[in-house]
Amino acid sequence: MRVLVTGGAGFIGSTYVRELLDGRYPGSDGARVTVLDKLTYAGSLANLPVRHPRLDFVEGDVCDPRLVTDLLPGHDAVVHFAAESHVDRSLANGAPFAVTNVVGTQTLLDACRRTKVERFVLVSTDEVYGSIPRGSWTEESPLLPNSPYSASKAAGDLFARAYWRAHDVAVSITRCCNNYGPYQFVEKVIPLFITTLIDGGDVPLYGDGHHVREWLHVSDHCRAVHAVLTGGRAGEVYNIGGGTELSNLELTGYLLELCGAGWDRVRRVPDRDAHDERYSLDSTKLREELGVTPQVGFERGLAAAVEWYGGNRWWWEKDKVAAAPPVLTEPLRARDVHR
Ligand code: NAD
Ligand code: TYD
Repeated sequence: MRVLVTGGAGFIGSTYVRELLDGRYPGSDGARVTVLDKLTYAGSLANLPVRHPRLDFVEGDVCDPRLVTDLLPGHDAVVHFAAESHVDRSLANGAPFAVTNVVGTQTLLDACRRTKVERFVLVSTDEVYGSIPRGSWTEESPLLPNSPYSASKAAGDLFARAYWRAHDVAVSITRCCNNYGPYQFVEKVIPLFITTLIDGGDVPLYGDGHHVREWLHVSDHCRAVHAVLTGGRAGEVYNIGGGTELSNLELTGYLLELCGAGWDRVRRVPDRDAHDERYSLDSTKLREELGVTPQVGFERGLAAAVEWYGGNRWWWEKDKVAAAPPVLTEPLRARDVHR
């Protein structure tokens, strides 16, 4: 099997590539991988075993039709991770999100159509569904995105469906919840909080911290993506949930404890615009159709992530300035914590 992995130098894509080359997924022994990655601020060759004999790396843009059309022949499948991925950046400037997440996805789908690639997995997100006050989204739930990031991902999803319906490209779409684990860029909440606490700083909690996210270890996400690639049905969407729902206050409590810090190290900062209240996925389809469930317990996975960032300062230190937290405002009060 030869797989083209876009965005393979980023957090989740590089985990998928490392694990695929390690033969960690059923039937993946001897798999060859080509990574196509633009190496934006979020991508790094330090995330990849660049000298691996079954890995080829191509620096380039998924929006470049000539490049992707030239690259695709000889590949059995495409796993499309490449994206602009940070909500806060999308609120500051939506343009790169529309370009990479919409035009890039369409460009890749079109090249697959022309070169007759057999299989395509679009790695999407639960954020396309918007925000849900109670209950959980199924794959039939409407797409109601609230940020330029999630809107661009939703548009990419719709292009994928259309290329399956109109052009028979064998696309499956995965929609996963929030990931955590090693190699996550320091702008996202878990690595930002861990590295800030390690450095002795205060962590910025948006609003009153009641917003809820569902968490999944990145290895569990990647295993599910591979199961969809090899056993999923074309034209179908698969939710990939983690089952661990936490408010940001609860998550902060775990991180403070693991880093040996107290609540005096938490600062309240102004809330994110249109901040989604809660994400929650129903993953019955993935479990019943493909037999995939999370294997990494949240507390064990989070402790391992804290240990990884502690032992790999060389990896994240240079990025800390670029991902500096917003200006800190009022300290968190005890009554905010215990609400
Ligand atoms: P990331 O930001 O860490 O990595 C993105 C990678 O894509 C980087 O290596 C970057 O260089 C590359 N890239 C960006 N624009 C490109 C372009 N135009 N051409 C080629 N390469 C380009 O992102 P991530 O957290 O690893 O997310 C990967 C995918 O998973 C994204 O599609 C994201 O929407 C989705 N996802 C992420 C999460 C999460 O919690 N991080 C959850 C669900 C789904
Ligand atoms: P983030 O990691 O940006 O992921 P997403 O917005 O895609 O869910 O944020 C996760 C949650 O953490 C979200 O509710 C916003 C919150 N958050 C903070 O409270 N402080 C921060 O500095 C960041 C980056 C996020």
